[in-house]
Amino acid sequence: MAGVDYSERIPNNVNLAGDRRLQRALEEWQPKFLDWWMTMGPHGFQEKDVYLRTAVSVDAQGWAQFDWVKMPDYRWGLFLAEAEPGRTIGFGDHLGAPAWQDVPGEHRGVLRRLIVTQGDTEPASVEQQRHLGRTCPSLYDLRNLFQINVEEGRHLWAMVYLLDAYFGRDGREESEALLQRRSGDRDKPRILGAFNEKTPDWLSYLMFTYFTDRDGKYQLASLAESGFDPLSRTCRFMLTEEAHHLFVGETGIARVVQRTCELMRDGKTDDVRKLGAIDLATLQKYINFHYSVSLDLFGSEVSTNAANFYTMGLKGRFEEAKKHDDHRLKDATYTVNELAGDRITTREMPALPSLNERLRDDYIADCQRGVDRWNQVIKRHGIDVELRLPHRGFRRAIGLFSEVKVSPDGRVVSEAEWGASKYAWLPTEADQAYIESLMQPVTERSQFANWIAPPARGVNSQPVDFEYVRLT
Ligand SMILES: [Fe+2]
Ligand SMILES: [Fe+2]
Repeated sequence: MAGVDYSERIPNNVNLAGDRRLQRALEEWQPKFLDWWMTMGPHGFQEKDVYLRTAVSVDAQGWAQFDWVKMPDYRWGLFLAEAEPGRTIGFGDHLGAPAWQDVPGEHRGVLRRLIVTQGDTEPASVEQQRHLGRTCPSLYDLRNLFQINVEEGRHLWAMVYLLDAYFGRDGREESEALLQRRSGDRDKPRILGAFNEKTPDWLSYLMFTYFTDRDGKYQLASLAESGFDPLSRTCRFMLTEEAHHLFVGETGIARVVQRTCELMRDGKTDDVRKLGAIDLATLQKYINFHYSVSLDLFGSEVSTNAANFYTMGLKGRFEEAKKHDDHRLKDATYTVNELAGDRITTREMPALPSLNERLRDDYIADCQRGVDRWNQVIKRHGIDVELRLPHRGFRRAIGLFSEVKVSPDGRVVSEAEWGASKYAWLPTEADQAYIESLMQPVTERSQFANWIAPPARGVNSQPVDFEYVRLT
């Protein structure tokens, strides 16, 4: 890539033009990234023009540009949110000290691990979604998929920037490793469980963008509080893009719900499968699955790591700055679940090791808001069904609840009851095969697959029937 004008090729506000060392590191990494993109990124469509937004600045008034782009030519840029002059560390042992502009030596290893773990999720989701293009329900949805994919690619760039700019040789090795792990690979899997699950169909994808990307929002938001200022500023800008991903998930599922309800009402039946749509019972099972997988991403209820990240000033709470307490939490407590035989109770625990649970609580409240909106759609159609988030203990693989079986309504159940009921609670092979059978591509302008309603409006004020991806 010698001779490429990097400030042109890689839109940035990190003074790339003035940093030869960083330029060289990225010059070496970029072709490897492109290789990864071509082999593990969206399958097919790489030669097609897609109507994509590209981040070109961090100006709140107009940070993005929309244009036709072939995905391999996407300008993956490097952006930090504006610096806050005089910013200080907002929590932990270093509370009140000037925010670090360089890596604090004593926390170097932990900080690198945090960045790598976040960074690993970004390419992982692109890998999970790479086969979805060929079964898209519309050009509008296809475009949104690719938008999310290129932006997850940019989020990888964002983390690689931090590793290359601040962690020297170790950082460069980690940058390489981020391109070598593979979602679902037995020998070199991605770091976190949910990012090794399959995203085999568009319903799973919409659930993923609603539930699993939302974990990303909460992780990014707590890293945005970090005392390491470059990480904070990077994450703050990533959250701007993340909002669109969550929008795709929330409105996507709302559109599925709407279509289902229209067919239930018009056909006077609950069994919309015979009308080629997704019944509410199946939707509920998919919610149960994706929500429980995503809850695991927050880690154990009680965690010394979480306490250390906070005490060290590396990872704060969600909206740390808005909380009115001492921001040290040495004497504070927090309510967490506990098992008493086969009963689920609560107890007060020291607040610091309970920080994972607190973040999970914030996440759960946020998840509920979308479910409420989906239920509004159902209600508007005069249908007496409610979608629900299952109990937080349902089907958990990490933490307290991994030791027991919990029903969606929050009872600890026997292995026998679990075995008999799990087919009613989770997608079965037959359910998956049915969803799979619906996944027929729809690529004519203004057309949508039968199982999903069109969106209320198009992208960037374009009409819904806009040619969002040029297939010819
Ligand atoms: Fe991301
Ligand atoms: Fe995302």
